Amino acid sequence: MKFFIDTADVDAIRELHDLGMVDGVTTNPSLILKSGRNILEVTKEICSFVKGPVSAEVVALKADDMIAEGRKLAAIAPNIAVKVPLTWDGLKTCKVLSGEGFMVNVTLCFSANQALIAAKAGATFISPFIGRLDDINLDGLDLIGDIRTIYDNYDFKTQILAASIRNANHVKDCALIGADVVTAPPNVIKALASHVLTDKGLDQFNADWAKTGQKIL
Ligand code: E4P
Repeated sequence: MKFFIDTADVDAIRELHDLGMVDGVTTNPSLILKSGRNILEVTKEICSFVKGPVSAEVVALKADDMIAEGRKLAAIAPNIAVKVPLTWDGLKTCKVLSGEGFMVNVTLCFSANQALIAAKAGATFISPFIGRLDDINLDGLDLIGDIRTIYDNYDFKTQILAASIRNANHVKDCALIGADVVTAPPNVIKALASHVLTDKGLDQFNADWAKTGQKIL
């Protein structure tokens, strides 16, 4: 399973990148706002060290404008995945830009039918939002499972990029269901390493070691 980092915080991406945890990055307008940076500048900086796909999202609503924005974003670096919303205009944009050889990430997916039509439009990635479905008492993981089945039934090459990941269990469940990629905030990636029994065991070992009076160095 690939890990994408869902942030535009360059320092946070770098820290995880140095550990080999970054297969790609996703951003969106809210994350750009949070970074306080210019979208073109921060995306260029991310692409200077992340070699996997870096998603940058268009903000226009009409296909012609989306296509123009997408081409400008794609010119930042060869590893840009142009992110478009799952609207009819977004699908038109997906078809055009994927036809021009660009990676396209179709975002804001909340149903299996949306995922099906995005694959038909040539999406490189489909981004189903798990956490936002869970927020309204629907089952985001069921959606990932349904998309996996549909894509496998017809051998669609579109990669399932599980998004809106809120906790470590989401990551494990996506891995079990067979999502190709998860995009998660840095704190969730770090939480994958945590276990209360690890902390407890380490405390015990350290206490016993102190009693030996020994040193290794
Ligand atoms: C995905 O590409 C989105 O940027 C992100 O996962 C949305 O997550 P949120 O629902 O926590 O805002």
